[in-house]
Amino acid sequence: MPDTDPPRAAMQRLDPAARAYLDLLARCLTRELFLDQEWWDVGLDDWPGGSEQVRPVLREQGWRLVRRGDPQARAEGRDWPPTAETMIGTARLDNVLDCCVRAVLDGIPGDFAETGVWRGGTTILMRGVLAALGEEQRSVWVADSFEGLPVPDAEQYPADDGLDWSHVEVLKVDADAVRANFERYGLLDERVRLLEGWFCDTLPDAPIERLSVLRLDGDLYQSTMDALTALEPRVSSGGFVIVDDYGGWPSCRAAVDDYRRDRGIDVPIHAVDWTGVWWRKP
Ligand SMILES: C[S@@+](CC[C@H](N)C(=O)[O-])C[C@H]1O[C@@H](n2cnc3c(N)ncnc32)[C@H](O)[C@@H]1O
Repeated sequence: MPDTDPPRAAMQRLDPAARAYLDLLARCLTRELFLDQEWWDVGLDDWPGGSEQVRPVLREQGWRLVRRGDPQARAEGRDWPPTAETMIGTARLDNVLDCCVRAVLDGIPGDFAETGVWRGGTTILMRGVLAALGEEQRSVWVADSFEGLPVPDAEQYPADDGLDWSHVEVLKVDADAVRANFERYGLLDERVRLLEGWFCDTLPDAPIERLSVLRLDGDLYQSTMDALTALEPRVSSGGFVIVDDYGGWPSCRAAVDDYRRDRGIDVPIHAVDWTGVWWRKP
């Protein structure tokens, strides 16, 4: 199968039941199936319809203001969902399915890994692929600080200057919450391997032998470079490297471009959507 086959090509090679399960799992993980039941809390102060007289009364009476999710933003992976287990949207999840299914069906040796998992949704889908295909050897590596983004080290990594997201509470999801999310889908077992801590501490000596799919989603230059340096050499020939933030975060793009240039990697990069990309290791 050529490298440039469109996403979903591998899914067509699955039997209908496996395909239906994985499609359903992906749509649950984004909450696209239940978007009409998902509500955003809006602060009364942010409500354009409220007046200075009305707001205190509503507050005193315990009113809450909510609004519906935007289906397009969710599908494109442009919002931070209130309940969904992943924020990466439909096209990037489909790309994960495509790469993982291709890796197994083509017999590319190695586990699956994501560096930067948030609530774990993408890695839950990776584990779902193994379940759907009856694949019993591979593991899914789930690497995160489980306490959000690091304070950027702008001196060493100037591309991260001004990108201090370390205080963003919604990005802090602890390891027990991620395990509980796997459990909810019946996919938590010993083949789900959490690597807890900063990538620079956990990844260089992680007991990962080979990877067939490596997915990077750490936003920053340092996070992307640390993950690439430690894990890209362990990707098998024919395996996939996926980068979530290449189009959306110049810091991430700079790390990927620097890494590829320094290692002489010149295989083409394929776009998934407005931000995600992937390439296949020769
Ligand atoms: C955008 S979120 C990942 C979204 C996720 N892939 C999904 O499917 O929704 C970025 C994650 O990267 C983690 N992260 C970023 N830099 C890190 C680093 N250097 N070490 C450990 N975790 C990091 C954060 O804790 C956060 O959970």
